Amino acid sequence: MYIHIDHVSKEYKQNDRVIKALKDVSLTIERREFICLLGSSGCGKTTLLNLLAGFEAPSSGRIVIDGTEVKRPSPKYVTIFQNYSLLPWRTVQKNVELGLEAKRLPKKEIHDISSRYLNLVGLENFSKAHPYQLSGGMQQRVAIACALAVDPDIIFMDEPFGALDAFTRTKMQDEIFNIQRGQQKTIVFVTHDIEEAVFLSDRIVIMTPNPGKIKKIIPVNLGDHRSRTNVDFQSIRHRVFAEFEVTENDTTEYYI
Ligand SMILES: Nc1ncnc2c1ncn2[C@@H]1O[C@H](COP(=O)(O)OP(=O)(O)OP(=O)(O)O)[C@@H](O)[C@H]1O
Ligand SMILES: [Mg+2]
Repeated sequence: MYIHIDHVSKEYKQNDRVIKALKDVSLTIERREFICLLGSSGCGKTTLLNLLAGFEAPSSGRIVIDGTEVKRPSPKYVTIFQNYSLLPWRTVQKNVELGLEAKRLPKKEIHDISSRYLNLVGLENFSKAHPYQLSGGMQQRVAIACALAVDPDIIFMDEPFGALDAFTRTKMQDEIFNIQRGQQKTIVFVTHDIEEAVFLSDRIVIMTPNPGKIKKIIPVNLGDHRSRTNVDFQSIRHRVFAEFEVTENDTTEYYI
């Protein structure tokens, strides 16, 4: 296994109570898998992603990636947030080059790599624009180019398409799906959109809140050519929907 989440719990103190953001979560992820974490607000999706990316430490349990326990963020893994996180004073191309500058590569190589990834996300004609001159979908494509340019082993994505309109969102899903298959990346992707999860994933990890837990893991064996209107696609979608129709114990588990 590549990523091993081993009995991980995470508690936060809010004033004088303790919130169990995650309770005894275990999950293994293989190299080149596309995993979606799916669940309602507050079920711990972002918390789990932050622990995987090394931004925070578990309260108990541990996370091991490629044989090494996660203790801090690593340049081998990049995270894409919902708000694009581009630097407004840099051009599109200079944003993509930021992570490469940290690698201290020669200038020409940095330029060639950033151009290649701008091409890949279809923004070669906007290299000299600034982020404010782009639409939300275009900014998110720049963020994806930034992430891919540093050639990470794993990409963590936290609702990266949440702010996009439905049409752009569908196009971005196609794009990230093809990129992941083409570049053979491992991706852990947070969403609350069931259709998005079915379209993108190899496996869907369904989470429930209070305390944040994994409820079910649903494999999505739809291959590399997916159609949202296909019967098999719809049947997996129904299966995932059915998981959310079950009445859940909604009482928050606090203790003082
Ligand atoms: N830094 C923090 N301090 C205190 N409580 C926190 C912190 N981060 C998260 N929590 C709590 O942990 C729980 C899980 O939060 P988390 O952000 O992981 O949920 P989520 O599944 O990402 O939700 P959403 O879909 O709304 O983004 C929530 O009850 C939240 O209030
Ligand atoms: Mg979140």
